[in-house]
Amino acid sequence: MRIGLLTGGGDCPGLNAAIRAVVKQGTGEYGHTIIGFRNGWRGVVDGDVHPLGRQDIRNVLPVGGTLLGTARFHPREEDGSMDAVLATVEAEHLDALICIGGDGTLHAASRVAEAGVKIVAIPKTIDNDVEGTDLSIGFHTAVNIATEALDRVHTTAESHNRVMVVEVMGRHAGWIAVNSGIAGGAEVVLAPEEPFDIDQLVKFLRHRHRAHANFSIVVVAEGAVPREGSSMEFTQQLGRFGEIVAGSIGERVSAEIAERTGFDTRLTVLGHVQRGGEPTPTDRILGSRFGVAAVDAVSAGTSGVMTALRGERVKLVSLAEVAGRPKRVPEELLRVARVLA
Ligand code: F6P
Repeated sequence: MRIGLLTGGGDCPGLNAAIRAVVKQGTGEYGHTIIGFRNGWRGVVDGDVHPLGRQDIRNVLPVGGTLLGTARFHPREEDGSMDAVLATVEAEHLDALICIGGDGTLHAASRVAEAGVKIVAIPKTIDNDVEGTDLSIGFHTAVNIATEALDRVHTTAESHNRVMVVEVMGRHAGWIAVNSGIAGGAEVVLAPEEPFDIDQLVKFLRHRHRAHANFSIVVVAEGAVPREGSSMEFTQQLGRFGEIVAGSIGERVSAEIAERTGFDTRLTVLGHVQRGGEPTPTDRILGSRFGVAAVDAVSAGTSGVMTALRGERVKLVSLAEVAGRPKRVPEELLRVARVLA
């Protein structure tokens, strides 16, 4: 078989582990040819191919990012790029495509599958908001980075009697905020799932500083928003492609706390630090398992599915059923973050 492979959307640690597994399993176990595409769907549209052999995947396991490159680009019917994808699939004589991506890439993959191309997808995003899988590649590393940052911020907060606001990634879901907040002992976690009340937050901080502490850590997911009708109005700043501008909610929350409490307050925006560097063993293992499972699925003639971690097992789930449905943090986990404040 000739199998196309791409990584789309934002990069993350663990992608190279998945690429390596696809190449090793595909060429070694089945004798397939793996045709990589540079820069996600953009490379498929442009026919920018990078055939992948054993020499390309040497020493990549601990390396962050993606050796194929990636782009925030999705093929569309309206501008002819979907036709260009189909033309490349035909020109390269591909039997199937393995697409590694987050929600946008998977949504596009589902439409390419509808157009008749055999597709198997692998979920990755540090945001961990892909429906249907317990974990996406990159999330575990991001939580580790954010937790380490919170531990570090903690000691300086305490020394200076400060409120430290730490903004972490998470546009539609607060998985990184909630998990790193619990692991890093944050006093408050603001996640998109639960619009917050600034008055309550300020009341809590005042009480805490009066009663038993001289510092506080407030973790804010970049997609957090104030509750409608509360005393803080906020319009999310969006960039050219509709993406959230890093720091906008963090800056605002930090300013409101400083103004309303008079406490010395500082902001740290972790930003892309969360997406860089070495993957944790968990992400290397997850990427490897998903890569092997994707090749097995393609080889069995399966299409329109995504590899997913369900409990201890890697399973295949319907791509159409999960694409475009962000997975939110469940109430049970939000509650743990709340009660441990
Ligand atoms: O990949 C998800 C994500 O890291 C989001 O958490 C964040 O909002 C976005 O990507 C940033 O995207 P970019 O790298 O395009 O600035």
